[in-house]
Amino acid sequence: MTEATIELANEAATEALAHALGAALRAGDLVILEGDLGAGKTFFVGALARALGVPDDVPVQSPTFALLHEYPEATPPLVHSDLYRLSDPSELDELDLEALLRAGEHVVCVEWGERFTSVLGEPALLLRLERTGGHTRRAHLRGREALVRTLLA
Ligand SMILES: Nc1ncnc2c1ncn2[C@@H]1O[C@H](COP(=O)(O)OP(=O)(O)OP(=O)(O)O)[C@@H](O)[C@H]1O
Ligand SMILES: [Mg+2]
Repeated sequence: MTEATIELANEAATEALAHALGAALRAGDLVILEGDLGAGKTFFVGALARALGVPDDVPVQSPTFALLHEYPEATPPLVHSDLYRLSDPSELDELDLEALLRAGEHVVCVEWGERFTSVLGEPALLLRLERTGGHTRRAHLRGREALVRTLLA
């Protein structure tokens, strides 16, 4: 496990980080996103989706109500979940994210997932976004050493 902090000056910097992550992820990887409401978690996953090849005309929206969106257009296919409204790990059963992760065919991004790592397992990357200004963010990274090093480069 390696930790690092990156200052993001604007949305383009966040997109660049997401693109770098897209190039470093493998099928079966879990990415957990943390940070206050509006920190940029969904924005980041949207940029990651583009990096993985989801066409611009496919909207990437917050899965707050559906809990899970799948993007088969991505390579590897992308799953985006948001567990903000869940309070108990047992509620994860019907989403079956564990089975998805075990199958190892998707990249799985989970907003507010840190509370559920006992079920989901350890992420390849935990990304915590902190709002430092209107358009500036601080990204706290913790994850697989090779992956974090790639993101710092
Ligand atoms: N540097 C930046 N990085 C990411 N988002 C930014 C940045 N600057 C401004 N923003 C804006 O901040 C907002 C982040 O909203 P977003 O829905 O991604 O937050 P979230 O963390 O997913 O919130 P929630 O917890 O409600 O799901 C977007 O409107 C985005 O355009
Ligand atoms: Mg969100």
